[in-house]
Amino acid sequence: MSAALEHVSGFDDEVSRDGIFSMKWDVASGELPMWVADMDFRTAPAIREALAKRVENGTFGYTDVPAEFMRAVAQWWGRQYGMDVDPAHVTFVSGVVPAISSLVRSLTNVAEKVVIQPPVYNIFTNSIVNNGRRVLTNPLKYEHGRYAIDFDDLEEKLADPLARLMIVCNPHNPTGNVWSREDLAHIGELCAKHDVTVVSDEIHCDVIRPGMTHTPFAAASETNRRISVTCSSPSKAFNTAGLHSAYFFADDAGLRARAVRGVNTDEVAEPNDFAVQTLIAAYTDGADWLRRLNAVVQRNKDYAAEQLAAHAAGLTPAPSDATYLLWIDCSRLLDEAGDTTAERFCDYLREHTGLALSYGGIYGVNGERFVRMNLGTRADLVVDGVGRLIAGARDYVGHR
Ligand SMILES: Cc1ncc(COP(=O)(O)O)c(C=O)c1O
Repeated sequence: MSAALEHVSGFDDEVSRDGIFSMKWDVASGELPMWVADMDFRTAPAIREALAKRVENGTFGYTDVPAEFMRAVAQWWGRQYGMDVDPAHVTFVSGVVPAISSLVRSLTNVAEKVVIQPPVYNIFTNSIVNNGRRVLTNPLKYEHGRYAIDFDDLEEKLADPLARLMIVCNPHNPTGNVWSREDLAHIGELCAKHDVTVVSDEIHCDVIRPGMTHTPFAAASETNRRISVTCSSPSKAFNTAGLHSAYFFADDAGLRARAVRGVNTDEVAEPNDFAVQTLIAAYTDGADWLRRLNAVVQRNKDYAAEQLAAHAAGLTPAPSDATYLLWIDCSRLLDEAGDTTAERFCDYLREHTGLALSYGGIYGVNGERFVRMNLGTRADLVVDGVGRLIAGARDYVGHR
């Protein structure tokens, strides 16, 4: 293993994901999956202990969402982000995607338009289109290797009389942008001007560069608070996506009533025992573990960026302050190889090195020349994955 990656106990130990029906690890022998957004780390001890205790009880009847759940959410946002969330404004949901799909249905009508900012989490498009609504894109600007919001274009899109909703990804998957208070307040101001409601997906907010702070959309201004529904979950930061524990909160009583009615009608607000235990344990006793996770994720991202800079001139990671995902610009490599998109390169990597990455084109406009690499894994696999990527990039140009 490279000296650059010092072993961190509890994160770099070998953990097998065989035989647990892991979606990510359902790959051929010798393949290394670095695509689906879950991590290979064991979750925080507090969560494992809470779940073990619950299993030991042995009865698994219907479950209520206790007041402790809503209190744990409110306390987490207060402690981590200095935001005042009223526990009475929090609603349990079985996932952020089910909540977003439901919000699209309850906050817009068929054929109306929902604004998103590609390249962005691809499932937003499904949630819009599968419900008979239309996507309106406000592509991010990518200038001098940095992503920014194109506010002129945003205002134009929001002015469309059929635009009713905007889904903000805060922080942004896949680019890793942590949006500033000014940017968020500006989005809110434009949305309010054009009577567009905002759903802010903050599922990635807890995985952030040490020393940086996440600004919740709803905390950026009073307007933002009034016009938005915030969705989140401990699932990304604590690696509990398989346990289906998520929630949303909204301050405005009318907006909240529509949202709550929607998720209940859609039956995505029913808890299970493990979901409830997971969130309470994560948000009550998980902060120290999360701090250590963030240091490990940063170590992995720094290592990958340094190695690519030194050994793969054709691959340039976008500067990323959040998520354990690296968004890598392959433009120079593609130009050298005479390709227009990274799709063939992705296929080549998998076939010739066994490394499975996400092809950037699935994230929409301007993603086609990128790949996304999941670095939420232990040190030896980071070194292995980065090594396969560098070797694959080197061989690809000759091969083409
Ligand atoms: C931005 C974003 N939202 C939502 C999800 C999925 O949320 P859930 O598993 O709670 O449905 C993901 C998963 O990668 C994501 O990146």
